[in-house]
Amino acid sequence: MTTPTTGHPRAADGEGMVMRVLLATDGSEEARAAATWVASCPLPPDASLRVVTAVTVPTSALDVPAVLDFQQSLRDEAGSVAETTRAQLATRFPRAEIRVPEGDPRDEILRLADEWPADLLVVGARVLGRLAGFVMGSVSLGVARHALCPVLVVKGRAALLQTILIALDGSEQAAAAAAFVARLPLTSAIKVRLLGVVEAPRSPPSAPPALTAQLRTGLHRIIEERQAALRPALAGVAAAFAARGIAAESRVVVGHPADEIVRAAEGADLVVVGARGLGVFKRLLLGSVSEAVLRHVDRPVLVVRGG
Ligand SMILES: Nc1ncnc2c1ncn2[C@@H]1O[C@H](COP(=O)(O)OP(=O)(O)O)[C@@H](O)[C@H]1O
Ligand SMILES: [Mg+2]
Repeated sequence: MTTPTTGHPRAADGEGMVMRVLLATDGSEEARAAATWVASCPLPPDASLRVVTAVTVPTSALDVPAVLDFQQSLRDEAGSVAETTRAQLATRFPRAEIRVPEGDPRDEILRLADEWPADLLVVGARVLGRLAGFVMGSVSLGVARHALCPVLVVKGRAALLQTILIALDGSEQAAAAAAFVARLPLTSAIKVRLLGVVEAPRSPPSAPPALTAQLRTGLHRIIEERQAALRPALAGVAAAFAARGIAAESRVVVGHPADEIVRAAEGADLVVVGARGLGVFKRLLLGSVSEAVLRHVDRPVLVVRGG
């Protein structure tokens, strides 16, 4: 087996294989939106689907009918959630299967994804609105952190996929995220926007409040250098989409990466990020930018681990 920080074992093999999609649902409104997305998403026509509803059954030493009935009713309920979802998707995925494992949902979903192995894991996540802040369920966040395969976290209303925003920082994982999208059967009606954000370096704290002309020039030079370094990464991805007949629009802006990506997300139906970027803190499973994007974007986010 590969270690958790390396890419998904099947991802490198690319084309020619049937894509396996694991949809995790708990029957909530968000999970139903995730199912709707799976039905309408541009996935290969022969993609195969498995629906998983994990159930946590409280253990009890009491071997009495009331307790056993209660436990069984939880299993039945989970079974019927999975079955309803399977039926809902039967037109698009006639051979979909269901799984109803018992245990912690994160563990069970990740175990099933690794065992199959899944090429894409789809989960729903709650959006409570702007004032309350966006709430990411512990399951969606846990799964996005630990899955080996790409994870699509469906948030908000299920909208028709017309515009895809891909955030690129020049890292291998961001490139892998773009490559995953480029392999999907996208129609030329879909717009792809590539966004690179250059962060201005912090001025030394001892610098006077109004930077001297010389410091300002130095700062601008560094920003220009960073922009020039990022552009080829966007151009490479744009070329990959162009080869598929899709014109991708590229933009490199200066600002805080998460803020700029969240802002640009307003004009997109799907936001795509790598699980990690150029950061050097090795043990982090999900980078701070991708985690902020997951938390604050109010629409579906695809997180791809790879590269
Ligand atoms: N400056 C940036 N411009 C555009 N996208 C970015 C930027 N920084 C991060 N991202 C996106 O977020 C993903 C995760 O990066 P990040 O959270 O910064 O992880 P790390 O801590 O490893 O750098 C990247 O793969 C990329 O998709
Ligand atoms: Mg980073």
